[in-house]
This record gives sequence, C-alpha cells and structure tokens, in this order.
Amino acid sequence: MNVTFSSAEPLSLAADAVALPVGKDLAGIEAYESALGAGLADFAKSAGFSGSAGTALILPSLGRVAASTVILAGVGEAHVGDLRKAALKVGREARALGAASLVSALELDGQVAIEALSAGNYTFDRYKKEDDRKAALTDVTLPGDGSGVDAGAALVRAKWQSLARDLVNLPAADLYPESLAQWTRDHLGALEGVEVEVWDEDELAARNCVGIIAVGQGSVRQPRLIRATYRPENAKDHIALVGKGVTFDAGGLSLKPSPYMQTMRCDMGGSATVLAAFGAAVELGLPVALDVFVGAAENMVDGNSFKLGDVLTYNNGVTVEIHNTDAEGRLVLADCLIEACKVEGVNHLVDAATLTGACVIAVGPDFTALFTDDDTMATDMMAAAEAAGEGYWRLPLHAAYKSMLKADWAQIKNVGGRDAGATTAALFLQHFVDGPAWAHLDIAGSSFHEKGGNAYAAGATGEPVRSVINWIASKA
Ligand code: BES
Ligand code: ZN
Ligand code: ZN
Repeated sequence: MNVTFSSAEPLSLAADAVALPVGKDLAGIEAYESALGAGLADFAKSAGFSGSAGTALILPSLGRVAASTVILAGVGEAHVGDLRKAALKVGREARALGAASLVSALELDGQVAIEALSAGNYTFDRYKKEDDRKAALTDVTLPGDGSGVDAGAALVRAKWQSLARDLVNLPAADLYPESLAQWTRDHLGALEGVEVEVWDEDELAARNCVGIIAVGQGSVRQPRLIRATYRPENAKDHIALVGKGVTFDAGGLSLKPSPYMQTMRCDMGGSATVLAAFGAAVELGLPVALDVFVGAAENMVDGNSFKLGDVLTYNNGVTVEIHNTDAEGRLVLADCLIEACKVEGVNHLVDAATLTGACVIAVGPDFTALFTDDDTMATDMMAAAEAAGEGYWRLPLHAAYKSMLKADWAQIKNVGGRDAGATTAALFLQHFVDGPAWAHLDIAGSSFHEKGGNAYAAGATGEPVRSVINWIASKA
C-alpha cells in the first residue's frame, strides 16, 4: 500500500473511492450537499444511515465528484476510538468495492489511519474463485502534509498484522508444524541479524521436550520447536516471547465435538502473534534483544496419541498428570517457557496462546485476557493495548487457586475444575517460569472471530500483534 498526503479538497481528487466523515445524527453531512446533491441528508436518513461509528453508506458518485464511489463513513463522536472504527469500516468497504485507490478525508492520526485502513481492507480469499476476489487497496491518500507521520512504521506494523492473519487463516492441511517452521525461516530468517533454529522430532526427544512430544505424537505431522533470536548492539532490554503453535486442535483422545473443532486451525494464533511481533520489532529496528519460542504440534487422535493418566516429567522437574488431552496448549507452552527462562539475560517474558474456552466465556471476542503478577508489566501492557486500539482485560492470577491443580499421582494435573478455567491455565504455566517478569496473554477470543463483525472480516483478527509491538517499543 502506497500512502501519500494531500491538502487538496478530497472531493477534487480522482480515486476509486473517497471516504467522507459524517458524525452522529448526520452531523456535518450538509457540507457535502453542494457537491453530492441537496437531498443527501434525507436520502441517508431513509437508507438508515445515522453516522454512528463503524457504519457506512456507499454512493455512486455519478460524476459529481472526482472519485468513482463515495463512502460516507460514520464517525460517531469523532474521538480516536470512533475514528479508528470508521477507518476499519472504510477499509472493509473499499475491499468489498474492489477499490485499489482511496482518498480518505477522515481526520485522524496518520499512523492510526494507515493501520486501521489496512486491517479493515484485509481479507483471506486465496481459496476463492478468481472472479470472487476483490482488489486490495494499493494507493491511499490521507489529508494533511504528513508531517510527523511515520507512514513507513505504520505500514510495517500493518504488514506483520496481516501476515499473522494469513498464518492463522491457513487451513491445517497447509499449515502444520514444519510449514510453520518454514514460514519462520522465510519471514524471520530473512531479516538481518535474526537467527532461526528449528528442533525436529529427534532434537525434541534429545532435549526432553516432553509436552511438545506428547501433544504431537498422535499426528503424522511431526512437532517442532521453532526459535529465533535477535541481538542488536544497543539493546535496552531483553525480551523472550513464547507462542502456542497448535496447528490443529482436535482435542486428542479427549476429542472435541465437531462444531468446536471446526475453527481449530486458529490454535496457533499465539505463535502467529509472537512471530509477527518479533518480525515487526526487528524491521522497526527496536533496540531490544529478542527471543521467540514456538511450540508447534498437531493435537490428533491416533493409536499413538498421548493418554489420560500419562505423567509427563518436564526438564524443570515438574511432573504433570494428564486429565484431559484437550488441555494441550499449556503442555507445549511449558517446554517453551522452560527454554525461554534458560536464555541468559532475559528479563521480560510474554506468552500468547489461544489457551482456554473459559477465556472466551469470560471476556468474549473483544478482549485479550492478561495475567501477570508484575504490576508494572500490567500497566505497560494495558497502555500498549490502549494505544493500539485493542482490548486487554486483566484477570486474576490468583495464587490460592493453585490448589485446584493438585494431582493424585504427580505434582500437578493439566486441568483445574470448572471454576476460573482461564486462571488455572495461567497458574499451570507459572510452574514453568523461573526468573524473568512474566505475563500471559490468553487470546482465545480476540485472535479469531468466527463471524466477521464491524471491525474485522471473519477469521483471524491479527490481535494482539500491534499491542505486543507497542509494548516491546515501550522497553526500547
Ligand atoms: N484450543 C483450546 C481453547 C480454545 C477454545 C481456543 C475456543 C479458541 C477458542 C484449548 O486447547 C482447549 O481445548 N482448552 C480446553 C481446556 C479444558 C479441557 C480444561 C477448553 O477450554 O475447553
Ligand atoms: Zn485443546
Ligand atoms: Zn488448543
């Protein structure tokens, strides 16, 4: 996407589409009546358009203005949240129109505009018939002179968010542990200063990564531990990122019912989040040492699947009794957390995972659940999410609930009870963290939306990639 800035009257600029802001109760619509026709407000009203944030009305320009199509974009109260919603909607409508060029007259920060238009414009159509695919935006014109706007940085952030969405949307037939590893070699390995290392099944066995092995052993697609490092000279902090990379979660022997399994290609959303945030941070040149660890496995049903009652003995000595093979994410993350804590100098550790259905029940699709004992991390991460326009909600990492994980035959079991399922999953992970300040992001609701809403098309959202980038930037 090329971005240019222009102080010219938006209605005079030629493009496939022009987006014009309209406030709550059609505030400001009269300004367009001389160009678009005196009946514009009445027409908008009769079409049910009121200017509320995230709604739009599409009008053919019929030669009245330089652009082919007019998008009246509801901006509601016109505060930054509403304007961001409007830009997302404009991006979506531009895609539905197949507009390659867009002039946006929305008055909002240039970087926010670029990121929101790009996220709205995203669609995953590579398996659709050629005729059914719509053109993406290639040229965007924003108001003003662009001073103080780092369009390049916004485009980098937008690009990695889209790459994360592609990864998550890919069917499990095409994205499995080794292909996720190859993606990492291709996309992160290509960046200057980045080293990528992949542990295959033999290496995993040699290193006793019992969780990744157990979860992956029911699949013909062999598991992987994917890691990448970045060591800039002027590093101000050292951050390790860990991601759940379950490329398909059938539930294992604790098999999921079909409706719950349908979207479980999304279960590597945590890995997509951390890989993309890592890539963006490197490309933005943030002076932070980074490590990323992804536990990649397919959780399947097979004669060789791991079983209920099995006991896993992790490298840090913790023994885990399996009570439900569908609580597999925490098992693969455990190996990664142990490895991340072994890296010398790491002082912050963040993991992201589509970990629990309980998280979706608790906070729904608009929030990532944040768990941490470190109040500074909580404050910084909430601020980073706020700036990205993404929802974070802190949930309790309540130590007293650790008793819910007590096992009969081993130290802990891999599930708690019905209560506080997202918290007991986080407390499980805590057993494998030793040293750095740590935060856990449960993105089960936020990273994938089965149905498209106002903000995102159906499927992967690319949340919370930009929040994680912002937080890394806050340490730089
Ligand atoms: N991958 C799921 C969690 C999930 C659910 C992600 C919905 C995205 C949307 C996870 O592996 C899982 O199945 N968790 C179980 C844990 C339970 C057995 C303790 C769950 O949430 O039901
Ligand atoms: Zn599961
Ligand atoms: Zn899972």
